[in-house]
Amino acid sequence: MRNALGLVMAVFRRWGRICRMEIDWVALRAAAIETMRLAYTPVSDFPVGVAGLVDDGRMVVGCNVENASMGMTLCAECGMVSSLHATGGGRLVAISCVDATGAPLMPCGRCRQLLWEHGGPECLVEALPRPLKMSELLPHGFGWEDIDRVTGGGAKTADVPPELARWRGRGTVFVHPDISGGETIWTGYWERSSGEPGTEETKGVLEEGPNFPTTAAAVAWGLVRSPRVVVVDAEGGLSWAGEGEAPEGIPQRWTKEDRA
Ligand code: THU
Repeated sequence: MRNALGLVMAVFRRWGRICRMEIDWVALRAAAIETMRLAYTPVSDFPVGVAGLVDDGRMVVGCNVENASMGMTLCAECGMVSSLHATGGGRLVAISCVDATGAPLMPCGRCRQLLWEHGGPECLVEALPRPLKMSELLPHGFGWEDIDRVTGGGAKTADVPPELARWRGRGTVFVHPDISGGETIWTGYWERSSGEPGTEETKGVLEEGPNFPTTAAAVAWGLVRSPRVVVVDAEGGLSWAGEGEAPEGIPQRWTKEDRA
């Protein structure tokens, strides 16, 4: 696989950074308390604040926001996760959620699912007497892998790694068949180059795709990254699976109906 070593090294570097990250629980709790005071709670009079440490060292916060229709309450964690994405994405490493007394508050069931998706099983949640891992708060949690196991991996649409978020919409994805364990699978890679004149210097692979059982699943992976997706078949033939008109030099359009 192209650039596979580079990709593995990047994963290790990122993991090392996260492991070395100091969690300042006092600062997290202080930010959660400050944000709790900004909550809008005309229905319950139960303000909640939450602060999360992101894997790049950022801190994101949220407070609960209620509504006259009552069932429409936004938990503090929802606001925090929205802020996580609105300020550049990333993964939550640790969170502190507090009630009006400033004491740690356990996230509700729905928010555990939300935190699971944006922090994963290792994300720590402040609790007494010790922080708890998300895997303790949501054992046997449901996630994308449960969907992927059935659908073959095409269901997840938001999986651009946070460090590549700024490349979304740029570059080109090439989807191609490969052999894995004696079976033909589909995979792809995301390249910086748009193939347009004058963009030669921006060549290089951004990300290698996982294995997919179908072309359609690999194309879906590509379209999440870039509107420019090219399918390269086993004979080296090119077809355009991207948005808009096929660029010059790509003779045909790939359609889901044509191929599995
Ligand atoms: N609340 C949160 O903001 N987060 C939680 O995890 C628990 C509950 C809010 C929702 C509602 O505005 C109030 O607390 C009472 O349930």
